Amino acid sequence: MICSPSFLSCDFHHLESEIRSISEAKWLHFDVMDGKFVINTTYNYEMLETIGSLSDQFFDCHLMIEDPRDQYQKYIQAGADLVTFHLEAESNPLDLLRRIQKSGVKAGISIKPDTDVQLLYPVLSEVDLILIMSVEPGKGGQKFLANALDKISYLNDQRTKNHYRYLIEVDGGINFDTAALVKNVGCDVIVVGSFLFRQTNRNQLIKELEHV
Ligand code: DX5
Ligand code: ZN
Repeated sequence: MICSPSFLSCDFHHLESEIRSISEAKWLHFDVMDGKFVINTTYNYEMLETIGSLSDQFFDCHLMIEDPRDQYQKYIQAGADLVTFHLEAESNPLDLLRRIQKSGVKAGISIKPDTDVQLLYPVLSEVDLILIMSVEPGKGGQKFLANALDKISYLNDQRTKNHYRYLIEVDGGINFDTAALVKNVGCDVIVVGSFLFRQTNRNQLIKELEHV
């Protein structure tokens, strides 16, 4: 699996050393919260520009915002390689994902824990990545919700049956135990926040999580 460290859990007063501590990660997960779609507010595209000047990792940008259609271009201009928006925040997801792809980056769609995975059916043939939330979006450090496993398994089956090409990513409550569970049902990318940033040997942990 690919391990995508969630920047939400890092120490923003020491950005350079924090990025160095996860330099072995191929991806970097950038959580954007607007205080409307979710209760908390985080950084925006300006922070992405700052991080982009310090790292050449693949920027996996997770927009937890209520108006992704109005904002996605700012994140692409700021250096996002993948822009993921929430199905719950967009009335025409197929159109928005095509627009993102036309701008030259990968397009992802995410669903919250209570959202039915079958609602993704119309986008499966075109989307680049599906992000399954295994916690309620809004903050790090929560417990993994096991209903994510059935969703990943369903998406993995659909992918095999129909020769789709999307990656399956999971976000929330990932540690060694839950990483093994999601890998077992077909997950490709794990977002890891508090579990990773709590430790000092982060680059070593990233390697171990990738091969759990
Ligand atoms: C939650 C965010 C996650 C979060 C993961 O809304 O999307 O990326 O930071 O953090 P942990 O790994 O602590 O659950
Ligand atoms: Zn996230």
